[in-house]
Amino acid sequence: MLQPPYTHYDRLYVYHLDLKAIPEVNDPDLIGVWIEDDMAVLFFHLPKEDLVASICRQYNCNLVYHADMDYRDWESGQEISSFTTGNITVAPVWENVPADIRLDPSVIFGTGFHPTTRICLDLLLTYCTTPEIKISSVLDLGTGTGLLGIAAAMHGATKVTAVDNNPLACQVAQANCRLNTVEDRVDVRQLDLRTNLPDTGQYNLVVANLYKGLLEELFDNPSFWQADLYILSGFIHSMEADLLAAFPTESLRFLDRKRADKWCVWVLANKERYVS
Ligand SMILES: C[S@@+](CC[C@H](N)C(=O)[O-])C[C@H]1O[C@@H](n2cnc3c(N)ncnc32)[C@H](O)[C@@H]1O
Repeated sequence: MLQPPYTHYDRLYVYHLDLKAIPEVNDPDLIGVWIEDDMAVLFFHLPKEDLVASICRQYNCNLVYHADMDYRDWESGQEISSFTTGNITVAPVWENVPADIRLDPSVIFGTGFHPTTRICLDLLLTYCTTPEIKISSVLDLGTGTGLLGIAAAMHGATKVTAVDNNPLACQVAQANCRLNTVEDRVDVRQLDLRTNLPDTGQYNLVVANLYKGLLEELFDNPSFWQADLYILSGFIHSMEADLLAAFPTESLRFLDRKRADKWCVWVLANKERYVS
C-alpha cells in the first residue's frame, strides 16, 4: 500500500523467497508482502538486495526469483486511471478527479480494469439499486482491493462481508474501506474459502469473482447455495460447461449471463429464496 511519502506507484521490485511465512519487514519503501504457492513475495518501490539478503539470513530461506517492472506492466500494460460505470466513477488515489470511490489498488487484483471486475460491478450496482430487489447484505468472496464490497456498501447494503485469503488483499481492502468511509458496514475477513466459507444464508447477494477450480469446489458445497442471489465470475467461455455440470440446477435459475472478451459472468437466483 502507499505510505507517505509515496503517492503513486512507479517501479515495482518483487522478491520471491522460499519462505512459508510472512517475514517482519520494517522498511519505508515496502509496498507489501503476500504468500503465494508457499513463497513469500515482497514488493518494494526501490531495489532492496541487501535487505532481502539479510531477511534470507534471518529466516534461513533463499531468494528464488526477483524481478523489477513498471507498475503498468503489473497491470498487463494498462495504466490505472479513473473510469465510470453506471453512474459511479472509480479513481485511483493518485488521480485528482471527482470520484465516488477512491482506491489504492496496491498490487492487488480489483482495480476495475479487468473485464470480470467491471461486469461484476455493473451487475452489482444494478441489483443493489433496483428497489424491488432489496439487497441489504452482501458477501464479497475474493474481495481483492475491496471494490465490489465498497460499491455494495455505498449502494444500500448495510452489512457487507468481504473475504480474501491473501493478507495483503485484506489490508488493502480495509484501507480502501476507510478511504471511502464504509468501514462500519464492511467487515473484511482473512479466510481461505476452501476451508472456511461464511454462512451464505445470512446474505441476500453473494458476489464471487474467483477462478474455476475454487468455484467448482464451492458449487459442490450445499452451504454455498443458501443466499438469494449470486453474481459469479472468474471463468472463460470454454469452462462454462464444466461449471454448469457442477451446480445444482434444481434449486437455481439463471437471471443473467454476460460476456466480455472471453470472460463470463453469471447471475443466479436461489429458487426458494428469491421471488421476482
Ligand atoms: C479474481 S480476484 C477478484 C478480486 C475482486 N473481487 C474483483 O472482482 O476484482 C480473486 C481474489 O480471490 C482471492 N482468493 C483466491 N483464492 C482464495 C481462497 N481460497 N479463499 C479466499 N480468497 C481467495 C484472491 O486473493 C483474489 O484477491
